[in-house]
Amino acid sequence: MPIPAPPTRTRYDAATLASLTADAAAIVARYPDPRSGLLPMLHLVQSVDGYVSRDGILFCAEQLGITAAEVSAVATFYTQYKRHPNGTYTVGVCTNTLCAVMGGDAIFDELSEHLGVGHDETTEDGAITLEHIECNAACDYAPVVMVNWEFFDNQTPESATALADRLRAGEAVAPTRGAASVCTFKQMSRVLAGFSDGRADEGTGAGDPTLIGLRIARENMWTAPSPAEKEPAEGAPAGAASGGPAGATAPKPGEPGSSAARTPTTPSDALPGGKPGTPGAAPGASKGAEK
Ligand code: FES
Repeated sequence: MPIPAPPTRTRYDAATLASLTADAAAIVARYPDPRSGLLPMLHLVQSVDGYVSRDGILFCAEQLGITAAEVSAVATFYTQYKRHPNGTYTVGVCTNTLCAVMGGDAIFDELSEHLGVGHDETTEDGAITLEHIECNAACDYAPVVMVNWEFFDNQTPESATALADRLRAGEAVAPTRGAASVCTFKQMSRVLAGFSDGRADEGTGAGDPTLIGLRIARENMWTAPSPAEKEPAEGAPAGAASGGPAGATAPKPGEPGSSAARTPTTPSDALPGGKPGTPGAAPGASKGAEK
């Protein structure tokens, strides 16, 4: 049986296609090279389809002048791009080292049992996609659960299952920090595509566990040493203050030994700006090539 040719056109209706095209133009305008807009474009199609669909891949390829295979290669590399319909809420449990030992593994296991789904699987009602996630730089609030990338700090198996139940019941939930509420996966995807929902400044970003070191330093009037205080002590070897080797003096830009003066090792090193397609020459970028 002959293998059918792959589709080459999207199946979006006219209104959706017009809206996507306008948003894509706004994304492409942010970059000197259209293909640089691929990552936000993938979030954009997720904001419409709820995942990176076949149509979304073709749309990105058309808009950016690249192949569907190139789009797929990127979409399958990053875990934030979903290749199947995502739930309304992604519930991510940090099971990176610190959260894991503080209870993250137990939270994930309890949620998985409670919801009847495993990693990157979605509940039958389409409400929740459960995920293991990596460290979200919130280790001071471990163990952390994220709902569509909003923080729910210091969770327990009980609090996490209660949170999941409220999400499935359609109740409003409030993150511990940051925005005052949780939006849907599609709404979040549009923000990640670079279209503000006006909520970036809601709530508190850094709570007390994050700021306690700063508070203690202020109470004790501790300050960072000024550059003058970093001068080497009398008798110390030259270069000790900067952490460099003894006797070392950093070359100025363009001087022998500076990075700008190094011998080109690839063809693109000899191009203006140091890489293909960069308009204009960065100061000193081609000096090595002139030698
Ligand atoms: S290990 Fe979980 S936020 Fe860092």
